[in-house]
Amino acid sequence: MRQLAVVVLAAGEGTRMKSSVPKVLHEIAGLPMIGHVLATAHSLSANKVITVLRHDREKIAGYISQHFPSTEIAIQDEIAGTGRAVEAALELLAKDFDGDVLVLSGDVPLIDVQSITELIEGHRESSALGTLVSCELANPTGYGRLIRSRGDLVGIVEQKDATPEQREIKEINAGVYVFDSKHLQAALSKVTTNNASGEKYLTDVVSVLIESGSVQAFQIIDRWLVAGVNDRVQLSEVASELNARIVRAWQLAGVTIDEPASTWIDVTVQLGQDVRILPSTRLHGITSVGAGSTIGPDSTLQDCEVGAGAKVTRSVADSVKISDRATVGPFAFLRPGTELGSDGKIGAFVETKNAKIGAGAKVPHLTYVGDAEIGEGANIGAGTIFANYDGVAKHHTKIGKHARTGSGNVFVAPVSIGDGAYTAAGSTIRRDVEAGSLAMNPVTQKNLADWVLQRRPGTESAKAAREETE
Ligand code: UD1
Ligand code: CA
Repeated sequence: MRQLAVVVLAAGEGTRMKSSVPKVLHEIAGLPMIGHVLATAHSLSANKVITVLRHDREKIAGYISQHFPSTEIAIQDEIAGTGRAVEAALELLAKDFDGDVLVLSGDVPLIDVQSITELIEGHRESSALGTLVSCELANPTGYGRLIRSRGDLVGIVEQKDATPEQREIKEINAGVYVFDSKHLQAALSKVTTNNASGEKYLTDVVSVLIESGSVQAFQIIDRWLVAGVNDRVQLSEVASELNARIVRAWQLAGVTIDEPASTWIDVTVQLGQDVRILPSTRLHGITSVGAGSTIGPDSTLQDCEVGAGAKVTRSVADSVKISDRATVGPFAFLRPGTELGSDGKIGAFVETKNAKIGAGAKVPHLTYVGDAEIGEGANIGAGTIFANYDGVAKHHTKIGKHARTGSGNVFVAPVSIGDGAYTAAGSTIRRDVEAGSLAMNPVTQKNLADWVLQRRPGTESAKAAREETE
C-alpha cells in the first residue's frame, strides 16, 4: 500500500474575516472549520496528518492538541503563500517518505471522505504527478481558474492575476490536491513569488509539473463540497448549507422536523427515533435526545442529555440531564448541573442550577432552585426561592422524598427538609425540618380597620371600600 501524508493548510492570516479569532477557528455546525477538516483528514487512514500554522498559531494549536492530538504541526516562515506552507509540511516527512501528499485547506470545510477517497483512487490509477479537485461554478469570483489547452490542464491562474478573459472561466480550483511527494517537492523548489500577491502559490506547481508529466483535474459536481470560506458571508452560507444537510439526514433517519429553516443541529448531536423538533430550536454540542421526545418551539439545548418521551418547551438548558418522560417549560432556564429525574417536572419561569430533582418531583412555577437536592415525588410550591448564596459562599439545600413545600417559601441554605415533611405557605425556612413535620413561622397578622378611609381619603380605593361597607 502506497504511503499517504495529509497536509492541512491553516497558516494564512484570514484578513477577510476581520476577526480577532483565527479564520479556521470560526465555527459551523458546532465545530471550528479546521475541526471538520481534521475529522475528515483523520478518517483517511493516513500515515501522518500535518497542519501548517503561522498566524495565531497558539490558539489554533491549542484546539488541535486538545481535539486531534495525533496531528503534527509545521510552522510556516515569513515567506507567504500556500506553496510555502506545503514546503513547511514536507520538512516533517521522513527523508525516505515516498508516497502521496494530500493537501486540504483549513477553510474548505465541507470536503468529504468519499470525494477524497475517489480523488486518491483516481490519482493512483492514472500516471499523473498530481490531481486537483475542480468544480464548475456559475459564479467563480475569488477562486483560482483552471487553464486548459486542448482539454489538458496546463496551469491555474489566481483571481488577482487573471486577465478579463481568464476571469470568464467557470472551472475553479478547490484547494484540494493529491501529489506524488518527490515531484511535489521538486516542483515547489522552482516556484517563485512573482505574482500580484508576492506569495509562493501552491497552484504554480501545476505548470511546473506538466514540464515532466501531467496534472489532472477531478471534477466534483456538488459545489458545496468545495466551497471556500474567506469572509463571514461565505461562513454563514456554508453553515446554512451544512445545517440543511444535517437536518435532512435526521429527517431521513426518522426525526420529525417541523421547520428545517429555523432548526439548527450541530454535527455532534444524536437524536433517537420519532424525536420531534419544533420551530426555532437549536441543539448544540454533545446533546442527545431519546426516542419520542419533543423539543421546542424556541428552545436551545447545549451539551444536554434528554431521555425518551420527554418534552422541553420554550426553554434554554446548558449541561443538563433530563430523564425519560420529564417535562420542562415553557420559559425555564436550566443551568449546569441540573438533573431532572424521570417523570419529573420543571414548569414555567423556573431557573435551576446544580440541582438534582428526583423522579416524579415537581417544581411547577416561578421558582429558583440552586445547589439543591429534591427527593423523588416532592412538590415545591409556587414562587419558592432556594437562597443558596450568603454573599461569600454557596450552600446546599436538601428536600426529602414526597415533601410538600408551601407557596412563597424561602429556603435559607444550608437547610434540610425531611422525607414527607410539609412547610406552610409563606415560610422562611432557616432550621432543619424533621421527617413528617409541618414547619411554619407565622407572624401574627394585624388588620387596621378603616385605615384606607382615614389615610387615603378620596381615592378610588377609599370609594370602593365605602361602597363595600355601606
Ligand atoms: C486558494 C487557491 C485558489 C483556490 C482557493 C480555493 C492558492 C494560491 N490559491 O485561494 O486557487 O481556488 O484557495 O478555496 O493556493 N494558507 C497558508 N499559508 C499562507 C497562505 C494561506 O497556510 O501563506 C492557508 C490558509 O490558512 C487557508 C488556505 O491556505 O486555509 C488557503 O488560503 P487562502 O488565502 O484562503 O487562499 P485563497 O485566496 O482562497
Ligand atoms: Ca480560501
